[in-house]
Amino acid sequence: MTSKLTRILVQTSTVPNAIYLQSRTKSDHLKTNERTKSMSSYYNQSAIDSAAKKASVRLVPTTMLYAGKSTDGLHILRSAQYLHKELPVRIAHRVVAFRNLPFIVGCNPTIISVHEMYIKAFQMLTEFPEIKNFEDEARYCRLLRKLLDDYRDVVTMLAEGFKESSKHIEDKAMIKTFIDRTLTSRLGIRMLAEHHLAIHDDKPGFKGIICVNFQPRKLIERRADFARGLCEYKYGKAPNVKVNGHLNATFPYIAQPIDYILGELLKNGMRATVESHLDNPNSLPDIVVTIANNDVDFIIRISDRGGGIPHEHSSKVFEYHFTTSGSVVDERVDGGLFGEVMNPSSKGPAAGPMHGFGFGLPASKAYAEYLGGKLSIESMQGIGTDVYLRLSHIDGKCESFRI
Ligand code: ADP
Ligand code: COI
Repeated sequence: MTSKLTRILVQTSTVPNAIYLQSRTKSDHLKTNERTKSMSSYYNQSAIDSAAKKASVRLVPTTMLYAGKSTDGLHILRSAQYLHKELPVRIAHRVVAFRNLPFIVGCNPTIISVHEMYIKAFQMLTEFPEIKNFEDEARYCRLLRKLLDDYRDVVTMLAEGFKESSKHIEDKAMIKTFIDRTLTSRLGIRMLAEHHLAIHDDKPGFKGIICVNFQPRKLIERRADFARGLCEYKYGKAPNVKVNGHLNATFPYIAQPIDYILGELLKNGMRATVESHLDNPNSLPDIVVTIANNDVDFIIRISDRGGGIPHEHSSKVFEYHFTTSGSVVDERVDGGLFGEVMNPSSKGPAAGPMHGFGFGLPASKAYAEYLGGKLSIESMQGIGTDVYLRLSHIDGKCESFRI
């Protein structure tokens, strides 16, 4: 099936615009030809079409956790061979989703850039020859590392690209489904790639990216320190974070996605706490984090006394791009204190690409659900907010999620 974007690009590249060409030099023309050539190879979609027809093969983390480790390193070769087959399929699914976006969104320059980046990744990963030996595998690792680094800003780009363009779209659910799928598929791809790179390391206590003795308390404390640092940098004050419940809970888990989610939730709780206590900034109520662990799942509850989420906002907070960032008009918020935290181009130590886009809650919810869990909010308007993050164990009593 040819997408609208492809059709437009093919049309514009095969029907020369005489006036446009006349005013251009020969070298411009050559450059145009080169670009047209590279564009048409970008949009030569048959390889993508056939890869997209395949279903992805999702791994249960226990396979990753208990995968046999052969002394001759064959497990590493097998892992690379799996990725060599699997990543193009997953990326092809993403490209097809980009093609099917409504025209007005799909033509947004930033969205086009991300669309092209995925086509490029597909090309690089499929052009990579069959992995037969450890030399091939080492080169494949270098390619993975490069892609992981080069694609770090994809979420920020998507947030920017959809911000304006999706305002014109009536069918909000469709856009939400696209962003949810893109983010969660990306999470899966990145976890698999990072896992493969990490199995080389033999880091004590780790099986690839799985931390064998993961302790939620430690991660919460580390994240809380970091979030307090951001909050203090911007406000001069930050609430304390108290952790209670099953403090000694220890089990195998992958820290990265929880780390991201906790970071978002703690920053939200801190922001709400400070903004609702502008009259008494020296007695900020604590944020209380409770851990509950059982043999099926574990729950992390983050409770703040930041005034809660107003009724009129409660149905919107899980929408992408919903944010009240910058809406507090009070000079004690330092003319947009959080605006600064949330400004992606902010160069201070608190600079963070996601703030103020209204991505924290919806993305965290999508990640939690991808990991077989849930993210829910109970707000007590006028008092504060409880956010519950529930995640299933990877080696628990019930079936685990798939990556
Ligand atoms: P952002 O932090 O970029 O605004 P989020 O998706 O994390 O995006 O949050 C969306 C909105 O939900 C926030 O702007 C805020 O209005 C509201 N919100 C989130 N968490 C809380 C909280 N703990 N207390 C009060 N409001 C909150
Ligand atoms: C991403 O980060 O968006 C990716 O999909 C990474 C992948 C190309 C290795």
